[in-house]
Parts: sequence; C-alpha cells; structure tokens
Amino acid sequence: MSKLLIKNAKELVTCKGRGPKAGERMNELEIIADGALKIEDGIITQVGKTDEIVSKIDEEEFEVIDASGQSVLPGFVDSHTHLVFGGYRADEFNWRVQGKTYTEIMERGGGIINSVDSTRRASQADLKAAAQKRLDSMLSFGVTTVEGKSGYGLNLETELKQLQVMEEINQEHAVDIISTFLGAHSIPDEYEDTSDFVEYLIEEVMPVIVDEVDVDFCDVFCEQGVFSVNEAREILLAGQKLGLKSKLHADEIAQLGGAELAAEIGAVSADHLLKASEQGIKRMAESGTVGVLLPITAFSLKEEYAQGRYMIDNELPVALATDFNPGSCYSESIPLLIALATLYMELTIEEAITALTINGAAAIDKSDQVGSLEVGKRGDLVILDAPSYTHLAYHIGVNSVDKVVKDGEVVVN
Ligand code: NIG
Ligand code: FE
Repeated sequence: MSKLLIKNAKELVTCKGRGPKAGERMNELEIIADGALKIEDGIITQVGKTDEIVSKIDEEEFEVIDASGQSVLPGFVDSHTHLVFGGYRADEFNWRVQGKTYTEIMERGGGIINSVDSTRRASQADLKAAAQKRLDSMLSFGVTTVEGKSGYGLNLETELKQLQVMEEINQEHAVDIISTFLGAHSIPDEYEDTSDFVEYLIEEVMPVIVDEVDVDFCDVFCEQGVFSVNEAREILLAGQKLGLKSKLHADEIAQLGGAELAAEIGAVSADHLLKASEQGIKRMAESGTVGVLLPITAFSLKEEYAQGRYMIDNELPVALATDFNPGSCYSESIPLLIALATLYMELTIEEAITALTINGAAAIDKSDQVGSLEVGKRGDLVILDAPSYTHLAYHIGVNSVDKVVKDGEVVVN
C-alpha cells in the first residue's frame, strides 16, 4: 500500500464542502494552519493539524513531504478545454492582432474549420503525442483533472479519433481527463443545411460514440451563425437519452438565450456567458447549473469579460477554466487565468480558488471525488513555492507551483 504524509503545511487550503458553492460560500476556503494530511492507496484518509496526525502514526511507514512555510491546495480542475487538435492557427492570431474579429475570421473560412482540416488529416499517434505534451504543461501549473472536448472532427471517424486519444491518454498520463462530445462545434463544408448535419449527429454519430468510447458529456456551440437554441436543445436532449450529461457554449458572442436553455434542460454547466442575460443567470442559479467562465478567451479575443462579480453576487456557482484551444485561446496558463479573474472580473482571490477547485469539479460532476482535500477524496494536491494561496494572484503571471501530487504520487517535483 502506498502511503504519503504531507506535514507542517503553513496553511492547508482544504476547500472543504459540498460543491458547487455559490454566493458568500465561494469565499470559504476552510484553511487549517500547520496542517497535515495522509494519503493511502491514492485516497485521502486523514486531514487535520500536524501534531494531531503525526502523534498517532509511525512516520517510518510513510513517504513524508515537509511543507514547512508552504501553502497546500487541492489539485486544480480545468473544466473546459479543447486539448486534442491537429495543426496550429498562429496566422489567425496575427490577423486578430491586426484588428480582425473572431467572427470575421470564421466567415472567411478560418476558425474552427481550419483546425477540423488539420485534425482530420492528423494520425492518431501525432494527436496523442501533442496532447500529452499539453497535459504535461497543464500538470506543471497544478492541474490534476481536465475536461477535454472533441469537436475538430465533425464526422464520426475523426470525432471518434479525438475521443479515443483522450481515452488512451487518460490511462497513461497522471492528469485525469473527463471527455465531452462536441460534434456540434461547427457545420462542416460537406453540409449545406444545418438541420441535415444535426440529424446526422443524432442518428449516426452519437449512438456509435457512446458505444465505443468513454464519454461523460455532450456540448454544443450555441451561437449566432452556428447552432441555434432549438438545435442545441435537440442535440443535448438526444445526448441525455444516451446517458450524456449536458454542457453548453452559451451566449459568448451574441445573446441567444443559451443560459436559459442550460437551466431549462438541467445542464451541468453553461460556459463562456459573456453576453448572458440577467434572467438567464438567475435561472441557472435556480437550476444549479454551474457558470464556467473563461476569461483568457475574452482577453485573447479582446472582448468584454463575463459578469463574474454580478453572477456570484446573484448566487450563481462559478467555475474558472482555461478554454485551451488552437483558435480563440491558445493558453493553458493558470497564472494568467487567476490574474484576469481577480483583476478584471473582480473575483476575490478566495472565489477564484473555489472556482478552480471544488466548483471546477462540480462543473464536470466530479465534486464527490476531487476539488477539495477531504477524507475519502482522491489524493490530488498542489504545494506552492509560497507561504499563502494569495500568491497565486499576487505573483502575477508566474507559476507558483513547487510540487504536484496525483492519486498520492508525487508527479511534479
Ligand atoms: O470555446 N467557441 C467555440 N469553441 C472554442 C473555440 C474553438 C476554436 O476557435 O477552435 C471556444 O472558444
Ligand atoms: Fe470552448
């Protein structure tokens, strides 16, 4: 049996409590000063004060990490990424720097379809190697669980290829991947009529996907010129019939009523929400749908940020994620994410930590297993090269992670 003891932590930021946390609860980090925890066979078996824990065990039986002067937190959960794709779109980034908008680039045949071409052409082995390197980088920032979407295939073969890559890496890489089917990410060139493509996804793609690969969620890019609210509803309800929980790219560029739809169908999360209506936010709060905010995307697209402060003040549980993808947000940087959330969306540092841990876990329906340091949860944690969690925001844009532990094993040292 593997046994790990972390002791003498200046602060053990447990983030304890059932997720998702809303309103004032997002400020409660449940910190233990001079904290310790035990992980046995990958599962947390004790959390408390160092002297209480150490006095009752034989330290010789444990691998011991002395975290004196350091802050220890739950491993971060990046609950929205598109990490498997072929090719790059650096040229489009350059056009944006020169003033073109994301929508203009999309209308000129760039955007998602560009990555679809490269992903269809890429071999499974190449997709896998690239995604593994990206996961290494995420892990170095303290991310121990990540959600990953398909959506650069838009046909059965390539959607399946992306999901198979995630399934394989999940078995081999320390970071856990929760997979999402995002076949409704764009309309491929071979379809003139969106409704024909929606029918193809529902009839011919989704039933095969759920049979052949591990996939937890179905997501739709509900946006002007992409999928309407009605089309998104049809796809997500068909997904629910197949056992796929719902997520939604909602109200990012135009206010279509994506937030309202997410609440109506009981989606686990609705993501982006830059243009979400007050009514949509209120309905999401009532239905327990997590709002996943992706400020690096807004930053990268030079858009106004989502109303994070307003959402939290109105009891919407908020998570933060990178949206790492080859187009609108080629960044997996947790330090940048925290800087933008605190300085530009006016979240407190405590709210940002909650949004990256227990609420991130809730956004992928895993808050019973990860997202906090509590007995019975997985031994996933981050040890900072800093005396306080506040340095995650204060040390702007710099990686404060010293060590990462995943399932009780030290994976970054
Ligand atoms: O979440 N909005 C749609 N999907 C991605 C963008 C993907 C891309 O540009 O390749 C997003 O921002
Ligand atoms: Fe996205």
